[in-house]
Amino acid sequence: MIDLENEVAIVTGAGHGIGEAVAKLLAENGAKVAVTDVVDGREAVAESIESAGGSAIAREMDVTDPEQVEAVVDEVVEEWGAVDILVNNAGVFPAQELDEMTREDWDRVIDVNLNGVFNCTEAVLPVMQEQEYGRIVNISSASGGHIGWAGTLAHYAASKGGVVGFTRSAAIALGPDGITMNAVIPGMIDTGAAQEVSSEEEIEAAVGMTPVGRQGTPRELAGAVAYLSSDLAAFVTGTTLVVDGGYTLV
Ligand SMILES: NC(=O)c1ccc[n+]([C@@H]2O[C@H](COP(=O)([O-])OP(=O)(O)OC[C@H]3O[C@@H](n4cnc5c(N)ncnc54)[C@H](O)[C@@H]3O)[C@@H](O)[C@H]2O)c1
Repeated sequence: MIDLENEVAIVTGAGHGIGEAVAKLLAENGAKVAVTDVVDGREAVAESIESAGGSAIAREMDVTDPEQVEAVVDEVVEEWGAVDILVNNAGVFPAQELDEMTREDWDRVIDVNLNGVFNCTEAVLPVMQEQEYGRIVNISSASGGHIGWAGTLAHYAASKGGVVGFTRSAAIALGPDGITMNAVIPGMIDTGAAQEVSSEEEIEAAVGMTPVGRQGTPRELAGAVAYLSSDLAAFVTGTTLVVDGGYTLV
């Protein structure tokens, strides 16, 4: 059983998709969850957690804005006295041909997907170091090193590869402080968002290459995050957990 009773979690990009499923599953397992996002969906997610008997607050938090991130972390500490779990999930994946990609396009994707991970990690570290305890889980992607995926996602692949490198290196630095950091590599997860930037043919091809023969659900991905956020994973750090129905094996 995954026991997160009285743990305090911050989930980024939790107003929709994988982040929403993560926030709900952490709450189901006892965590108090700060549901953060730039979209309004965060309110409904927090309400749904509360009406199921859990504890949640919804806050606007743009991961590219270090001051806003710090303010939300301070508020969470004030409200619940700790930050035990950070799930760096917020991400954007605008498909763009490489020869049409502008510096602005590139910077935006790196800013949300990679700098956002740094901003949120930096903000929770003093709290976790003081507690001598923390679990940080970063959502990467198979495109960050396992597969090429689409030629239209070069900036995205670079950002997600960066997340894996950051995870491995930071895990070494944070181990002595009682803090673990791991990355999850989702395969094709049916959130609607990834499907919007993929053609029918690409989705069919991805499913065709997935031994379990289907896309994953956000909740199946959330299960891996919940495990890495728990004491069951106390000796697991700096790793990448692939949750893809076998897609990257083929
Ligand atoms: N769905 C998949 O198949 C898949 C595969 C590999 C990796 N991923 C990764 O999983 C994560 C979640 O993806 P998803 O499919 O649930 O997408 P999604 O679009 O449903 O969710 C992403 C969330 O991030 C939020 N977000 C975007 N920019 C933000 C910012 N600046 N600050 C805070 N929040 C911001 C969005 O508002 C959205 O709610 C992403 O990091 C994505 O790259 C998804």
